[in-house]
Amino acid sequence: MLPALLLPAALVLSFWAGPAVRAGDAKFGQSCNRDHQKLQEGTYQFQTDCDAMTFCAENSTCAHKGCRSDEFPFGYPKNAKLPNKCSKGFFCPDEQDLCQPLIPVGSPCQFNRDDECEGPPNFKELADTSGFGLNVNGSVCLNNICMWANITVGQPCVVQNTAYTAYGPDGEFIDIVSRGNCRVGLYCDAQTNLCVQNKAIGETCDADKECETYNCLDSGVCGDRADTPREVGKWVYVVVGVCIFGGMVGTLVGLYFIHRKDRNQEREKRLQYWREQNAFRQNIMQMQETARNSLMSFTPGGSPRSTMYGRDQVQSEDSQVPMLHAASKSSALRYYVSDDGSQIDDRSDEDLMMRRRDHGPSHGERF
Ligand SMILES: *[C@@H]1O[C@H](CO)[C@@H](O)[C@H](O)[C@H]1NC(C)=O
Ligand SMILES: *[C@@H]1O[C@H](CO)[C@@H](O)[C@H](O)[C@H]1NC(C)=O
Ligand SMILES: *[C@@H]1O[C@H](CO)[C@@H](O)[C@H](O)[C@H]1NC(C)=O
Repeated sequence: MLPALLLPAALVLSFWAGPAVRAGDAKFGQSCNRDHQKLQEGTYQFQTDCDAMTFCAENSTCAHKGCRSDEFPFGYPKNAKLPNKCSKGFFCPDEQDLCQPLIPVGSPCQFNRDDECEGPPNFKELADTSGFGLNVNGSVCLNNICMWANITVGQPCVVQNTAYTAYGPDGEFIDIVSRGNCRVGLYCDAQTNLCVQNKAIGETCDADKECETYNCLDSGVCGDRADTPREVGKWVYVVVGVCIFGGMVGTLVGLYFIHRKDRNQEREKRLQYWREQNAFRQNIMQMQETARNSLMSFTPGGSPRSTMYGRDQVQSEDSQVPMLHAASKSSALRYYVSDDGSQIDDRSDEDLMMRRRDHGPSHGERF
């Protein structure tokens, strides 16, 4: 009775929980609140009530996005029609509602969106080509204002320090990223607010921005770029090559020795078989001869043959000896056939000898 009562209660609870919409879950046409739009603390990711394919429109419902900033935007199902990327001279804001023209220098921009700012006339000279993302086309968005990254050494600069929540193997930690509007090759010192020359590899540093390589090691000196490919010495190639070749040759040699034992055993068996067959053949020929001689001894006037018969009889008696000897040393191939068909290799020599003794007389009886 008890489970029957609990089941409807569980259903009611699930219906209650159903319509409650979590942030970022509202689908196209559902209601949303623009006041909920903000950057998430720690990650500075844009947050909205609407799902990944919609934005919160002015009439407080989720509408389809009007543009995208990423080549492969998150949250779209396979084969879905993606909104267009903005053409040159335009940008797609965090809301992704509509493409907008680039913002002139000195005007407000969205957090860290250097790409929203119009480039300087000497953008070719100021643009950061290092891949560290120090500016976009010579422009930076610092403290939500578009600027040009054109300040030279010793001149006052603007700095923006942002604390990100980062996740490492030891759990969460704070990663402070400091950006400024100095020219490429300089950094904005947070204490003096002046542009300072970057430091070379090996010089002491306190932050990544101080290094030419944008990598201040834990030891407090500038290290190689974090994306530097790891070079391996030539000797490593040689050692690996020798190990591969050695392994191949070693395997071949090992197999040769393992199979040599089997091969020799097989050869020995064949040789014994051949000797055996040869002995049988000779024995049969002698029997034939004995039979012929005994027949001839019955022929009339064949008296001299009687002595021959006696001698041949003795000879044939003697000739039994090698045959029996051969039979007692018969090849294992015969046993292989007569036995239960188990592998010869599994038997030890002693085992074979035992079997030979057991079977020996039966071969003798055959002839
Ligand atoms: C709300 O605005 C969006 C975009 O402007 C529009 O597509 C949608 O039809 C509007 N919804 C309502 C209920 O007016
Ligand atoms: C860089 O900015 C200049 C000046 O605004 C503009 O003419 C140029 O097209 C921009 N280059 C890129 C790659 O956006
Ligand atoms: C440097 O950029 C600022 C805007 O950030 C601009 O007002 C100023 O004229 C520029 N200075 C030079 C020397 O280009």
